[in-house]
Amino acid sequence: MTVMIIGANGQLGQDLMSVFDDEAVGLTHDDLDVRDAVSVIAAMQAYRPDWVINTAAVHNVEECERNSALAYAVNASGACNVARAANEIGAGVAYISTDYVFGGAVRSRRNPFREDATTHPLNMYGVTKRAGERMIMTSSNRHLIVRTAGLFGLATSRKGWTFPELMVTKARSGEQLRVVNDQVLSPTNTADLARTIRDLIQNEVTGLVHVTNEGECSWYEFACEALKIAGVRATIEPVQTEYARDRARRPSYSALDSLTLGNNEVDRLRHWGEALEQYLREKDLVFHVGGTARKAVPR
Ligand SMILES: NC(=O)c1ccc[n+]([C@@H]2O[C@H](COP(=O)([O-])OP(=O)(O)OC[C@H]3O[C@@H](n4cnc5c(N)ncnc54)[C@H](OP(=O)(O)O)[C@@H]3O)[C@@H](O)[C@H]2O)c1
Repeated sequence: MTVMIIGANGQLGQDLMSVFDDEAVGLTHDDLDVRDAVSVIAAMQAYRPDWVINTAAVHNVEECERNSALAYAVNASGACNVARAANEIGAGVAYISTDYVFGGAVRSRRNPFREDATTHPLNMYGVTKRAGERMIMTSSNRHLIVRTAGLFGLATSRKGWTFPELMVTKARSGEQLRVVNDQVLSPTNTADLARTIRDLIQNEVTGLVHVTNEGECSWYEFACEALKIAGVRATIEPVQTEYARDRARRPSYSALDSLTLGNNEVDRLRHWGEALEQYLREKDLVFHVGGTARKAVPR
């Protein structure tokens, strides 16, 4: 099987390249711009993959508000270019979507969104990703849409850091941290996500699937747990979303759950706390006290 990975040097793209190993053909943004339909078709015809995984996105939430035309061109029409071209050569297409397609309907919601939940994005990022999902459903006969959230992993995107790494680094340098405590999500490790995407593709699962690590937390709880595991003492203050004064609105609750994984005999992912602990150790961000690691959050 040949699997084309678009966005191959991105955060998730690098882990996908590892799990698919010699089956993978990786294309970076320099190799291919998904907005250019002609180049996308040419790439499909040149490599003739069995599956294409499209990780390309504009996902900086504030940037999407400022430049919604660019966000739409990449997240929606660009994704449609990929789906159509893949369909033309008979390849399956996987599109990576987001928990930010949710959050707008019921502000007091506290039960995780499953695949059959009604979407209601609050910001341009969510709007353009939902548009991408819909275009893929109508452009490809063999599609897999994977919604995920709060990615962290050893490989980083162009920005060069992950949220837990940033928290630990800032705390170590003595910076006082303020982190929002009224946005709840399911943080997800990219290596776990990449392995699950591989399992889904190998099992020929199609349709819509939510893939996140188990459990949920606020960004504040996520940061506190990272500091606890890393063994860093720091002052960390929970703040409300308004404090950040962002332009984009963000979901107060967007944790995901999956019915589809179990129904297709694909394992659910481990708890986010366990994945975070392994990540911080591998990243060498855990401060060893007498060789004893601190425990992750209780399940
Ligand atoms: N990060 C998260 O927390 C998160 C949460 C939920 C869902 N997701 C989704 O997961 C996917 C992967 O996210 P990630 O964190 O791995 O992102 P990432 O590290 O930014 O990787 C995205 C890759 O796409 C490339 N790209 C951007 N515009 C492109 C274009 N027009 N044509 C071709 N390639 C382009 C980027 O290249 P350049 O950097 O060189 O432009 C980058 O290599 C995205 O679809 C995102 O919407 C992410």
